[in-house]
Formats: sequence, structure tokens, C-alpha cells
Amino acid sequence: MPGPSPDGATRMTDVKKLFVKTYGCQMNVYDSERMAEALGAKGYVTTDVVEEADMVLLNTCHIREKASEKLYSDLGRLRALKAERPGMKVGVAGCVAQAEGEEILRRSPVVDLVVGPQAYHRLPAMVEGGGRVVDTDFPVEDKFTLLPERKALRGPTAFLTVQEGCDKFCAFCVVPYTRGAEVSRPVARLLDEARGLVMQGVREITLLGQNVNAYHGEGPGGSWGLARLVRELAKVEGLARIRYTTSHPNDMDDDLIAAHGDLRELMPYLHLPVQSGSDRILKAMNRKHTAESYLRLVDRIRAARPDILLSSDFIVGFPGETDADFRATLDLIRAVGFGAAFSFKYSARPGTPAAEKPPVAAEEADARLQELQGLITAQQHAAQEAMVGREVQVLYEKTGRKPGQMVGKSDHLHAVHVEHPEGRVGQLQRVRVTASAANSLAAEPVGPAS
Ligand code: 5AD
Ligand code: SF4
Repeated sequence: MPGPSPDGATRMTDVKKLFVKTYGCQMNVYDSERMAEALGAKGYVTTDVVEEADMVLLNTCHIREKASEKLYSDLGRLRALKAERPGMKVGVAGCVAQAEGEEILRRSPVVDLVVGPQAYHRLPAMVEGGGRVVDTDFPVEDKFTLLPERKALRGPTAFLTVQEGCDKFCAFCVVPYTRGAEVSRPVARLLDEARGLVMQGVREITLLGQNVNAYHGEGPGGSWGLARLVRELAKVEGLARIRYTTSHPNDMDDDLIAAHGDLRELMPYLHLPVQSGSDRILKAMNRKHTAESYLRLVDRIRAARPDILLSSDFIVGFPGETDADFRATLDLIRAVGFGAAFSFKYSARPGTPAAEKPPVAAEEADARLQELQGLITAQQHAAQEAMVGREVQVLYEKTGRKPGQMVGKSDHLHAVHVEHPEGRVGQLQRVRVTASAANSLAAEPVGPAS
């Protein structure tokens, strides 16, 4: 909504347009929404057209090299636009902002403000203040309390950040440096926020955290783990589905595993990064688990919830990775059978321990990445094919490209296209899967969700 003018009425001339570009993870998607809401209170409405923006906000990701290169090339392009629109402000938020701070102002004259992930609540004041500013403090105050109430919602699914930061210090990863130490939000606030979301029509909530299953928030009677939080959320009337991401294998405790068997609201899909199947490399990565302990964990999770689909993250070409190490990763993939996975070629992140070590030859890493992705794609297709003929539940998120078509996600997080002219967004529907395409399923309606 536009901001009020001094006489209290809202005039169209007060409306300023905000263009937000989000790089990277779901945490950033969530943060972008919250920043747009915070600036909404200052009269900004969001636009999809960068050329008409009064403010451009780039919410960056630092986790892999390409992401920050992309930021600087986007900033290069904004230079021409800003020359035409001198009043336009450009802000850089997120983990690159945190990591590079003032360096961004030095390297890119087009940038007006740089704001780290813990300082978003101060963004409106920074925008009003003018001048070129950097705010990348790690304040103790809870930015979540200081950000305005959530309002701008786009559909029946929502993210809810329950935890930020990471204390794991995997040797390749910048997150512990850019997002800082683990901090969990208190239970009461999360329950309030979840109930508020449900009142606005949200039926599925994905709990977010860099290390979400290490959640240990203050709750009635002391510190609560993620399982207890999920059990409490499952009681919220109207909340049909709960997911959480991203988990570390070592924080999958018995209660959380049991919850996957007990709670119909907890969806049968788990993203559980393993990174490598070689114990030597896992040790060098400082992952603190082995291939064997990961496989045993998978067995325990599947014992609780046999139909669960697992996904993972893999890094190929970590310094010192030999062909035998890589084969061990392929063996682990074959042993688990994943429903999906993200795989990355290792890129050295300055300041991390692994960045000091000699890299694997690029051609070698490229070839490994291709081979690994081929295997994962085959497993993904097999998991999708196994759904054909089965009845699954889909939460409709939007209408499809074809008339009469609805699009949503199944319990197993498959994208599903359903021919259903009477369907409406927000509806939980039972469907029968009729076909599997490259990255989605096709289905026909059967009846309302059970
Ligand atoms: N190089 C390549 N991939 C990385 N990831 C994190 N840091 C790096 C890096 N330096 C991957 C990991 C992580 C995912 C979010 O990004 O697989 O789980
Ligand atoms: Fe990074 Fe995840 Fe390791 Fe934490 S657990 S250091 S976020 S890869």
C-alpha cells in the first residue's frame, strides 16, 4: 500500500516503486519479502519492471562464487539505468553485503546502501537518511521483532524463519561467517506468526534455517528442539502441511525422526545434504559424519516413514578429491536412491579453510559433476515414474499455463499439473498421477483431500 501523505490521505504521487531481485536460497526469498514489507511502510510498492523502479534492491548470496560475480555484472547493468533515473536508489542486501561491506561501495559507484542480513529492520531509516551507507552489524536485538507484521502474501504456502546462522564450520562454507552463529527464535513468536499466516489463508509452512534441525528456541518449560516445535505447529487448526529445510545429518535426533512417522502434517520429503560419500573427503570437509553413519541415519528415517523422499546437496572437486573418492560418492547415491539433489562444483570461498588448498583440475571437476548429475537425474525420474498411477494430494498454488489447469506440489514436493477447471488456489486436492514429465507430474482430480 502507498504511504499516507501529511494530511493522512494516500496520494498516488507518494507511491515509489521497489524492484527486488533475490539470489540464492529460500532464506533470501523470505528476507526479500520482509524487506519489501518494511519498505512498504515507507510508501514503496513492488514492481517487476526494473526500468520503472525508484529503488532497486539486490538480495545477494555468497555461498558459491558465481553468485557474487553475478551481483557485480547486475550492478554494471544498473549503471546505465541509473544514469537515466538519477533519483533511483540501489541497495545491496544479503550475504555478499555482509561479507564485502564497504568494498561494494568502492567497487560499484552505483550502490547507495549496503545492508547485512541482521540489519534489515534498519533499512527504511537508511533509505530515508540518504547518502551512501553500510550497515552490516551483528546486533543482539531481534530483527524479527523490529520488522513490521507480515502482510503481503501471495499464496497458500509460506516460509517461516525459525533459526539463522550456523556453528558447523564446514571447511568450504561461508555461512558461519556471513550469517554468524546459530540463533533460534522463541517458540511463542513462531506460533503467533504461524497462526497469523494460517488466518491469511496459508495452508503449508516451510520452516527455514541454515541449520534448521539444530533449532533450540526458548519455549514453555525451557529450550525446545525442532521436533517439539513441529508437533506444536501441527496442532494449529487449518495448517495442513509442514516442511523444514535445511538439515544437518548430525542434528536429526530421535524425536524428529519419530515425528516423521507420527505427524500426518509433516510432509514425507527431507532435504538432507551429505556433500560427499568419501570418508576422507567428509573429514577434510569437517562434516563430522561418515558415509556409513549417513546411510544408517537414512535407514532410521525410512523405518519411521517408509515413503519419504530424500534430497541432498553434493560438492564435487573438493580439494584433494580423487577419482576413488568420487566413486564413493556415486556409491552412496546408488545406496540411498534420492528423489532429487543439488550438485555443485567446488568453488573456493575466501576466508574458508578449504580455500587454502590446491584445487582439483577444472576439467576433472566438470566431468565428475556431469556424471553425478546424470545419476541423480535418473534417480529423480525413477522416483517420479514410481508415482504414476498413484493417488497423491496436491496443494494448488496457482493456475497453469493451459486453460483449466492447476499447478501445485504433492506431499512429496513434486510439481504437479492437474486438469481441473473447477480447481481453486489454496485447495488441497486428491489426484491420480497420469504421467511423469522432465520436472513435473501430470494428474487428474479424484476428490477432496482426505
Ligand atoms: N563450493 C561449492 N558448493 C558449495 N556449497 C556451499 N559452499 C560451497 C562451495 N564453496 C553448497 C553445499 C551446500 C549448498 C547450499 O551449497 O552443497 O549444502
Ligand atoms: Fe555451511 Fe551447512 Fe556446513 Fe553450516 S552445515 S557450515 S551452512 S554447509
